[in-house]
Amino acid sequence: MEKIQYDFKKRTHKVELPKKLGFGKLFADLFFEMDYTPEKGWYNPVIKRVENLSIHPGSMFIHYGQAIFEGLKAFKTEDGRITIFRPKAHIQRLNISAKRICIPQVDEEFLLQVLTELVSIESDWIPTNPGESLYIRPVIYGTDPFLGVKPSSDYKLFILLSPVGAYYPEGFKPVKILVQDNYVRAVRKGLGECKTPANYAASLLAAKEAKEKGFTQVLWLDGIEQKYIEEVGTMNIFVEFKDEIATPKLTGSILPGVTRRSVIQILKDKGLNVTERLINVEEVVDAYNNGSLVSVFGTGTAAVISPVGWLTYKGIEMTLNNGQPSKLAQELFRELNSLHILKIEDKYDWVVEVNKEEIEV
Ligand code: COI
Repeated sequence: MEKIQYDFKKRTHKVELPKKLGFGKLFADLFFEMDYTPEKGWYNPVIKRVENLSIHPGSMFIHYGQAIFEGLKAFKTEDGRITIFRPKAHIQRLNISAKRICIPQVDEEFLLQVLTELVSIESDWIPTNPGESLYIRPVIYGTDPFLGVKPSSDYKLFILLSPVGAYYPEGFKPVKILVQDNYVRAVRKGLGECKTPANYAASLLAAKEAKEKGFTQVLWLDGIEQKYIEEVGTMNIFVEFKDEIATPKLTGSILPGVTRRSVIQILKDKGLNVTERLINVEEVVDAYNNGSLVSVFGTGTAAVISPVGWLTYKGIEMTLNNGQPSKLAQELFRELNSLHILKIEDKYDWVVEVNKEEIEV
């Protein structure tokens, strides 16, 4: 790979972050981009000021959606060190998504180097209030101007940075979820496990209608039988029964969340009975009715841990744990947040520390 180029002037102003950050509205000054052609491979890697992208109206991703993305986070520890949570897992997943929709692979070591350099240069944009972070959004899309349906030959990859607070306006407060049985998000062997914009486009109408009814988000059921719970679209889901913590198994239509994977590991290490299996939505209702449903919570990079306070399915309204975060959700939330900023030991080697670099430009 070529060396990363730096095409920006040193910042002369101090970065001022707002007191309360929402999600994804504010962007750091700099971003990374590089291009791909079959002849050159990935080339021209550069860190530069965020600018509008120049896109030919015939670019294939606009017409046929050949694009993928990732979402990961950087943090500042209490003593000012910089960390990124599980960047290698996110980069690996980017390449898995790439394979599914015929996007060329990216050198994983090189992308890790890019991430750490970009975050290091832009570390003033990492917020430090509890629960806040610098959200990192890598994107790849096909750029060929061509109207036939085929994989693009040329691509662009960019990485955008956004200082963020909680994803949901509720913060860590429990959210209200509607089990969706009018629409489906994805079917097995389709694109569901691929982090591609199509899955998010598929979710918009259902989310809009749910919001109009006062719900925060929808919980998707499997696309074939509309029987098994899958994911929320912005997070994976866990169901805490009295003697088991279950999460839907990865059938191909669910995003294999990095936070999901981390939570499974943490729960296993606590000696808890955690299972990945098909979870029938009727089983959740039965457990609610017979008192063996303790709590439901979501996991995701953006959401971290999000307790579900209310779950509605076919008009059955279930109030979970009295609408309060369960003990387990609170514990996981605290543990993950502490791990992000190395307040507890990173026994899993998930956290990558980034050296603060002074780049000569
Ligand atoms: C994430 O959790 O990082 C996501 O990508 C979900 C959403 C913000 C699209």
